[in-house]
Amino acid sequence: MDKKILVTGGTGYIGSHTVVELQNSGYEVVVADNLSNSSENVLDGIASITGKKPVFEKIDCCDKPALEAVFKRNAGISAVIHFAASKAVGESVQMPLLYYRNNLVSLLNILELMGEQNAPHLVFSSSCTVYGQPDVLPVTESAPIKPATSPYGNTKQIAEEIIRDTVYADSRLKCVALRYFNPAGAHPSAAIGELPNGVPNNLIPFVTQTAIGIRERLRVFGSDYNTPDGSAIRDYIYVVDLAKAHVIAVERLLAGKNRKGVEFFNLGTGRGLSVLEILKEFEQATGVEVPREIVGRREGDVEQVWADPSFANSELGWKAETSTGDMLKTAWNWEKSLCSRNIQ
Ligand code: WQD
Repeated sequence: MDKKILVTGGTGYIGSHTVVELQNSGYEVVVADNLSNSSENVLDGIASITGKKPVFEKIDCCDKPALEAVFKRNAGISAVIHFAASKAVGESVQMPLLYYRNNLVSLLNILELMGEQNAPHLVFSSSCTVYGQPDVLPVTESAPIKPATSPYGNTKQIAEEIIRDTVYADSRLKCVALRYFNPAGAHPSAAIGELPNGVPNNLIPFVTQTAIGIRERLRVFGSDYNTPDGSAIRDYIYVVDLAKAHVIAVERLLAGKNRKGVEFFNLGTGRGLSVLEILKEFEQATGVEVPREIVGRREGDVEQVWADPSFANSELGWKAETSTGDMLKTAWNWEKSLCSRNIQ
């Protein structure tokens, strides 16, 4: 039965939530992760939700022999969900070579081994950053891919091109590439969630750390954008809704339903919210105030981007169902859970 899935980066934020949904759907999961930006304890969190700890392989996907050994030790892997990558936009500007090596060498290894090990189905973790600042909003999958605004975004653009060329050359290989907008929130059990190393880059964990008192105040990066309230707009999607899309993508591939060698889907809510609107929604949802100060724009940020998710809605039968308020409540519950366990 082809129900064994390799999840690289499976102890990471989106990876761990996807492992839960895969196990809940009856899949056997093998997690490969080098723990460079996550903890092995996440596996206990997963097990506390699903009752089953996934097989864990501590390896770096840039190490092809080690990755090959994972395929050999876990016979019957029929699909790969490839999350393992570095993902901090700002950090990528400071350390471009680390990003190009880590994000692209790992992908090359995965693609080669998919062919060599007869595991021809790939779900690839892509990003709305491939669009840069779209000319037209909401952004659809046919929007032009504009020059990346960061090495991170460029690695996602290059990765998509590598995948396109590879599936063209080898018709056995099939891929569904999921372009995430802004993932946020945590599992309702508060057993897993976002665990940023050090000072969070992303907005939502910074908001919850400010709300709980770890951070003094939130810096709002820019109030002079051409948006209704001057702050930048994004499409914040609940991480569990996002995780469920990966299970649907795996099922699509295993059933041979994908129409092309590689298909692209925007995974967003279709609703754009500004930073100030997020703060207002957070305070309404939790009753907790978030001290903030308006500062200058952050380098590499786009002004506004949100998804047109209609293709994923119709073609995958998937839709982001969770409200912003409910999503933010899960983020807050997760923060309180970390604090009560003295984690962070
Ligand atoms: C969101 C908004 C900031 C922090 C992310 C991921 C990237 C990709 C796309 C997956 C921006 C503002 C933030 C803060 C702020 N995801 N902000 N104060 O930059 O859209 O990119 O989603 O591939 O990997 O990083 O997300 O959460 O950093 O910022 O005002 O302290 O919040 O300027 O407008 P971003 P983010």
